[in-house]
Amino acid sequence: MRLVPSMCVAVLSLAAALSGAQTASSAKTARPHRSKAEPAAARVAATPPMGWNSWNYFFGKVTDKDIRDSADEIVSTGMKDAGYVYVNIDDTWQGERDANGVIHPNGKFPDMKALSDYVHSKGLKIGIYSGPGTKTCAGFEGSYGHEEQDAKTYAEWGIDYLKYDLCSFIPDVMQKQAPNDEAAQMRLMYQAYDKMAKALKATGRPIVLSLCQYGWDSPWEWAPAIGGNLWRTTGDIEPHWDRIYTILSQQEGLEKYAGPGHWNDPDMLEVGNGKLTIAENRSHFSMWAMLSAPLLAGNDLPHMKPEIKQILTNKDVIALDQDKLGRQASRVYSDGEVDVWLKHLSGGAKAIAVLNAGSDRVATHPFHLSLKKLGIAGPVKAKDLWTGQERELKDNMTVELKSHDILLVRIAGTAK
Ligand code: GLA
Repeated sequence: MRLVPSMCVAVLSLAAALSGAQTASSAKTARPHRSKAEPAAARVAATPPMGWNSWNYFFGKVTDKDIRDSADEIVSTGMKDAGYVYVNIDDTWQGERDANGVIHPNGKFPDMKALSDYVHSKGLKIGIYSGPGTKTCAGFEGSYGHEEQDAKTYAEWGIDYLKYDLCSFIPDVMQKQAPNDEAAQMRLMYQAYDKMAKALKATGRPIVLSLCQYGWDSPWEWAPAIGGNLWRTTGDIEPHWDRIYTILSQQEGLEKYAGPGHWNDPDMLEVGNGKLTIAENRSHFSMWAMLSAPLLAGNDLPHMKPEIKQILTNKDVIALDQDKLGRQASRVYSDGEVDVWLKHLSGGAKAIAVLNAGSDRVATHPFHLSLKKLGIAGPVKAKDLWTGQERELKDNMTVELKSHDILLVRIAGTAK
């Protein structure tokens, strides 16, 4: 979690108290048993949602103008044509509730309906943020006790996507109502998400539901059944390689939970943020596409450098992410600090990512790629998705890779 200072201490100490939360399997026994994702979930997010979110660059400073400017840029930069659709307002838009309990935006967002109309007029969709607690992570008004009302308000505004962030629900409800009973706390969390999922459904408007509870209590096992379209699998991403690589490694083993309508979410993109090198930006974007992760850019679009735009709009890489089969890649093997991932695509096509998490591998000690370990018979033709060149892959071939860089190739399928 990345928190504003006022919330930081309180929530982080709670996070520490509940750090074993993902393993509270007993909580599951009290849940209604539903074995499959409900069909409604497939109506939206049939492929991983793509768009942009305000948090990773603007944090609490985001305004109505920033959202409009970002929508404009998504169109003018060609991002819309490349598949980016959602323009998502994260935390800090909320103002007060009126006498009837209806939520209103604060002064940074004078008219939410007008903003939503503007985003829609660009052929894009709009997302918003709340949480089940009394307060959001940044200390703004949450949806506690107003779930149906808020869902209705969002629908009236024309909202298409809701990110629902746990935060103050931990101290306000889970710890208060069930002190020292972790399983009961997890049940309360589950019920809170179920409640909002039902409230959204009751509006009749298709709204993507994004769960943000940092992977507590294995949401991949229960979120699809309540209608969640994506769920965060970890704590917050940060714009530096170590954090990105740690999150990437934590996605291993979750492959089977991803599929049309319901996706693992390793958090929003940091491409173009912080001090990431071009290689790191390229690898981050490649691997999120390999993971069938939601591709929510989080950079400063009006000041995007051409090389960042080139990464974010690489249609071949985006096609891996958006492949209709929806199969998340697996790390097949690692050799030293190089990881080799494989993703199955529709029509029998495959993508291979060779990621160098260590120092430069140059001609004196290149990496040797084993096609055999990937179950692929070589030689085979493939397209390098970053150079656009066709190349022949052979078993045990040498691959030279700079530090934190990636070789990303696609092998065509046989099906028409
Ligand atoms: C949490 C979430 C972030 C962001 C902030 C907003 O930290 O994990 O993605 O939404 O809250 O306060």
